[in-house]
Amino acid sequence: MESKTFSLIFLLFIFILSHFSVLTSKRILNNPSVLSSSASLWSLSAERLIKSFNLMPKLDVNVIAKGNPDAPRLFESQFDFPARIGGGNVSHGPSVQEFGHYAGYYSLPRSKSAKMFYFFFESRNNSTDPVVIWLSGGPGCSSSVALFNENGPFTISEDLSLSWNDFGWDKVSNLIYVDQPVGTGFSYTSDSSDLRHNEAGVSNDLYDFLQAFFKEHPKFAKNDFYITGESYAGHYIPAFASRVHTGNKKKEGIPINLKGFAIGNGLTNPEIQYGAYGDYALQMKLISKSDHESLKQDYAECQNSTKTCNLKGGLTCDSAYEVCTSIFNQIMAKLENTNYYDVRKKCVGRLCYDFSKMETFLNKENVRKALGVGDIKFVSCSSTVYNAMMEDWMLNLEVKIPALVEDGINLLVYAGEYDLICNWLGNSRWVNQMNWSGQKDFGSAKEVPFLVDGKEAGLMKNHGSLTFLKVHDAGHMVPMDQPKASLQMLQNWMQGKLGTPIGQ
Ligand SMILES: *[C@@H]1O[C@H](CO)[C@@H](O)[C@H](O)[C@H]1NC(C)=O
Ligand SMILES: *[C@@H]1O[C@H](CO)[C@@H](O)[C@H](O)[C@H]1NC(C)=O
Ligand SMILES: *[C@@H]1O[C@H](CO)[C@@H](O)[C@H](O)[C@H]1NC(C)=O
Ligand SMILES: *[C@@H]1O[C@H](CO)[C@@H](O)[C@H](O)[C@H]1NC(C)=O
Ligand SMILES: *[C@@H]1O[C@H](CO)[C@@H](O)[C@H](O)[C@H]1NC(C)=O
Repeated sequence: MESKTFSLIFLLFIFILSHFSVLTSKRILNNPSVLSSSASLWSLSAERLIKSFNLMPKLDVNVIAKGNPDAPRLFESQFDFPARIGGGNVSHGPSVQEFGHYAGYYSLPRSKSAKMFYFFFESRNNSTDPVVIWLSGGPGCSSSVALFNENGPFTISEDLSLSWNDFGWDKVSNLIYVDQPVGTGFSYTSDSSDLRHNEAGVSNDLYDFLQAFFKEHPKFAKNDFYITGESYAGHYIPAFASRVHTGNKKKEGIPINLKGFAIGNGLTNPEIQYGAYGDYALQMKLISKSDHESLKQDYAECQNSTKTCNLKGGLTCDSAYEVCTSIFNQIMAKLENTNYYDVRKKCVGRLCYDFSKMETFLNKENVRKALGVGDIKFVSCSSTVYNAMMEDWMLNLEVKIPALVEDGINLLVYAGEYDLICNWLGNSRWVNQMNWSGQKDFGSAKEVPFLVDGKEAGLMKNHGSLTFLKVHDAGHMVPMDQPKASLQMLQNWMQGKLGTPIGQ
């Protein structure tokens, strides 16, 4: 039954697999019923690639034909979703007209023809609040996944009406969601050479986007600025923060008041994080001790190839990815239908989570018209963008961080405790092993409870600019699972109050 589902996926997404060989694992954990044939190896590999880090790509990529007459014009406009905004708290909620809600495209100067799509929501509290940008992962998944399912101003109801989210991050910030790298979400290009392959390309485009944004919105340029995001954004965020910091130092453009960056269940230091898969799985009783021993041997090889990738780059990184992915696939083979974003849960349907309402909503004619996206179809996760970034995957982005925290830019690393794919253990390890002047003091800092409504919602550690928070009762998508705690986390952190018990 399962393999039928998988082979369907396999047929639909065969192009993704074309440059991956069959799982190369030398040791297969002893679960013959799951890994009995090469067909199921293919299926596992397919499933892993397709669902990796977020959604199944519904469509390919937004690379449009040159000179497409229906290409959206370049602009930004204030928009009003053509949906009824109501829900439980309609009487408490303000009307959407009271707020600056913008959507639009900026041209990217370092590309041939790329246009980057974004949403901008002015704070529901005060326009002097910090500006926060959110980046979803993938690579290749739209930030609208987070907007509508995690921390945006609205949630989508069954009937596709919108409700105010009482814990939207726009309650304490002026909030930007951007669809990047090029080809993701509503972003598009007419030249496939604009696809990005590394963090240099990604962070330059984000820097250029930010310059264009603050030029258009000078009123916000002096506000505090924070970079946030999740999952594969554990790569983007350190690169982007570092790019902004360098731009500021070189007086390149509009100075950006970068105060901090926050990574949620991210992939930042693959060498360390791949080593944590087996340990986390054992700790959570997902695998046996002998499975764990066997994975340790696979990890030795993964670690070697990751080191090589980080020294030599290029094709050595494709092979490191392949070697290391077998560790994750072997664990998944033991878990069958477990949701690897939240090991307490089963995958519902093929996607683990059902985000189809968002896709339906954003592809509605009147919504697309309101957003000014012309004929561009919404792509929730693009496999082309994903594949284009393959040689970036195993690179260690932690190396960008010490220079930032030494300069007093705050870093928050947080992780929902039930996520397997970017688990808290791996994140905690790289954060503790990071070589910076505060390493020793951070290591010996006391773990304190993170209190929400007087109850422990997590455990945190802080020294200087660095804070780590393990969030209870949450998986990969912390703002979706713990909306109230995540909003308080953001607010406390931006106010410099996270890391010490503060009660309510
Ligand atoms: C509505 O808002 C009030 C006041 O902010 C809050 O106490 C209540 O829990 C909210 N109700 C729902 C259904 O979200
Ligand atoms: C926003 O904050 C500023 C500075 O604290 C204050 O002067 C202003 O009155 C506030 N505006 C609103 C609408 O509360
Ligand atoms: C709302 O804005 C005011 C400034 O007007 C600020 O003092 C306050 O902390 C903000 N509230 C939140 C929840 O961020
Ligand atoms: C890892 O590399 C070292 C040094 O190159 C080598 O001695 C060792 O055998 C390698 N281990 C594996 C598992 O490939
Ligand atoms: C840590 O960083 C310092 C300063 O860059 C460097 O001198 C030192 O060798 C590093 N230590 C380790 C163990 O990598």
